[in-house]
Amino acid sequence: MSTDTVGLEKATATAPANIAFVKYWGAVDLERALPVNRSISMTLSHSCTRCTVLPREDGSSHEVYLVDETGDRVEAPEGFAGRVLSHLDRLRGWAGYDGFFRVATRNNFPMATGLGSSASGFAALTLATTRALGRELSPRTLSVLSRRSGSGSAARSAMGGYVEWPGGDVPDVAERGLAAPEDDSGGHARVLAPAEHWDLRDVVAVVETGAKPVPSVEGHRRAGTSPYYERRLELLPDRLERVRRGIRERDLELLGAVLEREAVDLHLVAMSSRPPIFYWTGGTLEVIREVRAMREDGVNAYFSIDAGPNVHVICEPDLEDAVAGRLGSLAAVRTLIRDGVGQGPIVSDDHLL
Ligand code: DP6
Repeated sequence: MSTDTVGLEKATATAPANIAFVKYWGAVDLERALPVNRSISMTLSHSCTRCTVLPREDGSSHEVYLVDETGDRVEAPEGFAGRVLSHLDRLRGWAGYDGFFRVATRNNFPMATGLGSSASGFAALTLATTRALGRELSPRTLSVLSRRSGSGSAARSAMGGYVEWPGGDVPDVAERGLAAPEDDSGGHARVLAPAEHWDLRDVVAVVETGAKPVPSVEGHRRAGTSPYYERRLELLPDRLERVRRGIRERDLELLGAVLEREAVDLHLVAMSSRPPIFYWTGGTLEVIREVRAMREDGVNAYFSIDAGPNVHVICEPDLEDAVAGRLGSLAAVRTLIRDGVGQGPIVSDDHLL
């Protein structure tokens, strides 16, 4: 162990998921999760991951567990565990620590269904691990290091409220002295407005709880093969500006129109990629149809869909119950998650190990 890793201790962090208003889809550098385009999201108040990291100076390998809703610990599935192990190795390289970790992680919402579990999971893992190594990170550095997990959207889960992630075209390097070992130019998110600025709600209609058929990383890889990809990029500067203005002026109609176009275009690109990716199911369409019908009845709500079949429905607080009532009555909807805009990650003593 290197001499600067004093204060090794068990640490627990909780980090929020986020819903992208303008989507990250397509990377200039997939391994470093540097996106082609800027994205904007809302950090969520309810959907989150709690993660405990225990340094094991006596161990000879990392151990990764998932904690289920009953509190039982199971070994993490191979694909997810592999991503966690690589990230742990990256973080210990960054901190100059050569020991191992035992990790337990728990989501309060379904994993790998396009609801942002990688974003919250890797932000929580990054914060807990660096804290276990005795490091205090600024939100910017947490954003860069979380992103380096390969889950680009984790860059946004490092912060609360309304968040923009410029990606690789920002000139400043996240606190150079503290950045990853190699030069990691740009790539941290920034807060556009704090959660208190605008109390938006997100009623999530869960139509599928099984893992999505194709991981986002594969979607990013294939994005450029869609004939509509370049066109979407051309449309983005105007969309980004509208979303920023919608947030600044708390104008849900302005924001909502872009949200829905972005949701449709992400899936249009995915469905027209080679080979194509179909995340939507019949249930997704049923929810979209209901949201449009609600608006005709004066219920001002808008849908957004990340890389999965489940639908986020964004509205203001006075309409949340009406939205939940209508979505809850649909045959396709298995459960509803009542969410809203929330704060960034926190460290706590609520350990899982
Ligand atoms: C459609 O590469 O961040 O959600 O590793 O699964 O978290 P995960 O995905 P990531 O891509 C996110 C794609 C998206 C849009 C977005 O969140 O910006």
